[in-house]
Amino acid sequence: MFSHLIPAAKDPILSQSLACLQDARTNKLDLGVGVYRNEQGVTPVLQSVKRAEERLLNTQESKGYVGLAGCERFNNTMIELLLGENGSRSRAVAVQTPGASGALRLLADVIVMANPSAKIWMSDLSYANHAPIMKTAGVEVAYYPYFDPQTKMVNETAMLATLSTLGKNDVVLLHGCCHNPTGADLSYRAWQSITEMANAQGFLPFIDMAYQGFGDGMEEDAAGFRYLAERVPAYLVASSCSKNFGLYRERTGLAVIASDTLQQSECIKSRIMECARSSYTMPPDHGAAIVRTILEDQALKEFWLTEVTQMRQRIQGVRSSLVDAMKIQTGTHQFDFIAQHKGMFSVIGANADQVTRLREQFGVYLVDGGRINLAGLKESDVPFLAESLSAVMS
Ligand code: LMR
Repeated sequence: MFSHLIPAAKDPILSQSLACLQDARTNKLDLGVGVYRNEQGVTPVLQSVKRAEERLLNTQESKGYVGLAGCERFNNTMIELLLGENGSRSRAVAVQTPGASGALRLLADVIVMANPSAKIWMSDLSYANHAPIMKTAGVEVAYYPYFDPQTKMVNETAMLATLSTLGKNDVVLLHGCCHNPTGADLSYRAWQSITEMANAQGFLPFIDMAYQGFGDGMEEDAAGFRYLAERVPAYLVASSCSKNFGLYRERTGLAVIASDTLQQSECIKSRIMECARSSYTMPPDHGAAIVRTILEDQALKEFWLTEVTQMRQRIQGVRSSLVDAMKIQTGTHQFDFIAQHKGMFSVIGANADQVTRLREQFGVYLVDGGRINLAGLKESDVPFLAESLSAVMS
């Protein structure tokens, strides 16, 4: 049965952390997988999460099944976090999923079910797992121009020119905020233009919202998406609690569906639940129970928001320290763009040889394509990283 199978290729993101772990050098840096670490180099369990877990331990009365859509209280509080008072809330429904990857996959499954010839357009560059998830589900993948390697910002003119050619068979995958891998986000003006195009041409916006709160703030990070959500007839969202709740291993995510009418959204939701049933049946409960415990309690929610603010400010501090250190190392402003990028990641412009040299010569592990995870970098490691980058790149 299996004798012809050859081993899978290494995962481009997860394999970097493993390689760093196996590296015997003491002064090495794991800037691969997107996890937040504090100044001690630890990915902490948030205090708000600990408090929610204590409550659950004391009050949970059953481990019985929850349901194919997961916990509806989680779904509703998460819809509120994503959409605020947005007008599209009255037609938005959701399914709890195993991480945002689970949401991406289920939404891809329902796209194929509805339209087997649909094509999904993603940014060039995009999250390394976007294309594999879509292709495995059977959705054809294409790319629109996005990251300008010269400016390290979004080439919105080229992006919009490509989107202007799309129509009813097309799905456009957009990063809600904190673009992965580049760190270069869309302007509010670009969200407005995309909204106009979606309405005029009929393509379906599909938003990946994995880092809400890590860019400019919980509300600010959703502003562009909410503008679009209010105005288009239909959209999809895959959302993650891995980063902003620090629930990485609990696999806590959400698939949101908003169609023209609530009835139509419910119909799509039922088909998504059918896809879940034929795959893993229902999502794990613990992470979702933590999130709804936090979001349903105003005081605990406020406390969680301060913890997210602390994480965001630490990342912003590391970004500006690295910019300063690179100015000293190179005597140029070549790396100033790092402070303009949002969220955990930046693509810094290292080519394949430079990425290999950083790894082999300096023990600095980043993802192929030159993505660094600034949220995993300690302030005390910034000088070492700056020396390594400038030795290899200037
Ligand atoms: C990342 O991009 O590093 C994270 O989203 C982790 C993952 O699952 O790839």
